[in-house]
Amino acid sequence: MAGARKIIIDTDPGQDDAAAIMLALGSPEEIDVLGITAVAGNVPVALTAKNARIVCDFANRQDVRVFAGCDRPMKRPLVTAEHVHGATGLDGPALFEPETPLQPEHAIDFIIETLRSEEPGSVTLCPLGALTNIATALTRAPDIAPRIREIVMMGGAYFEVGNITPAAEFNIYVDPEAAEIVFKSGIPIVMIPLDLTHKVLTLKARVDRIRALGTRAATALAEMLDFFERFDIAKYGSDGGPLHDPNVIAYLIRPELYGGRMCNVEIETGSELTLGMTVVDWWQVTGRKHNALVLRDVDADGFFALLTGRVARL
Ligand code: BDR
Ligand code: CA
Repeated sequence: MAGARKIIIDTDPGQDDAAAIMLALGSPEEIDVLGITAVAGNVPVALTAKNARIVCDFANRQDVRVFAGCDRPMKRPLVTAEHVHGATGLDGPALFEPETPLQPEHAIDFIIETLRSEEPGSVTLCPLGALTNIATALTRAPDIAPRIREIVMMGGAYFEVGNITPAAEFNIYVDPEAAEIVFKSGIPIVMIPLDLTHKVLTLKARVDRIRALGTRAATALAEMLDFFERFDIAKYGSDGGPLHDPNVIAYLIRPELYGGRMCNVEIETGSELTLGMTVVDWWQVTGRKHNALVLRDVDADGFFALLTGRVARL
C-alpha cells in the first residue's frame, strides 16, 4: 500500500459513518486505515464501537482494528440522536454480533501511540462524530499535535446553521469544548459543514445504483441509506437526505470534487441559545487568524460515482 494516505477514522456509526468507512476500506490504493476509533455520539460508545465492527464485517475486512473511546463529552452529559439513526444507531439492515474483534486498548492510547510511532506529518485524523477523542488525546499528549498531518472532519455549519438546534450542527453541539480545543490547536483543519453535505442528497436513483451492485456490503449500505433518509426527507422536504460523513474520505481521494476557502472558525461554548455554533468568518470581516479550510462546494454526482465504485470492490 505504498503511497496510500495513513488515516485514523474517529467515528460514531451512524449510517453515514458506515458509508465513510466503506468508502475508505474500498480505496486501498489511496487510503490506509490504521484504525477506527469509536466515540459516543449518535448512540452510546458501546454501540458505536459495535457498529464500527459490524461495518468492517459488511466490508469483509475483519482485520481492521477497532478501538472504543470516550463514553461522554469532556464537560457535558451525552446527547444522542436515536431519532435520526434508530435505536441501534445503524438501523436498516439486519444486524448481528460482529466477528471483527474489539481491540483491548483504549482509543485514546491508540491515537497517541500511533502518532508517536508513525513518521511525523504522515497521519491524517478523520473525525466523523463529536471531537471528544481527538481533543482528549491532544490534551493528554500535546506532543502529538505537530505530528498530525491534517484533521479532515465533518462538523459545523454556517449558512445552513443548525440541525440539532437552530444554531448548531450535531457533532459540534455534542462536545463544543472538544471542538474548541481542536479549532484552537493550530493543526491544519479541513471542515466539511452542513453547507456542503446538504448538497449531497441520497436521491433514489443514486441509492438504487448502490443497491444494484448486489453485494453484501452494497445491499447493507442501501438498506442503511433507505432508513437514514426517511428522517431528513420529512424534515427538509427534499428527495433524499443529506449524506454527511463520507465526504471526509471522498475529499482525501478526490479533492478536485470539492471547493472552499480558508477562514477563521470559532466555537460557541458559552451561550445557551447558540451553544456549539461554528462561527465561520466566511466573508473575512474580522481579521482573525485563518484556522480551517471550510469546504462549501461539491460535485455531488462525482461523489456518488466514487462511493458506488469503491463500495463495489468490497
Ligand atoms: C453528523 O451528525 C451525525 O448524526 C452524522 O453521523 C454526522 O456525522 C451530521 O450532523
Ligand atoms: Ca457521524
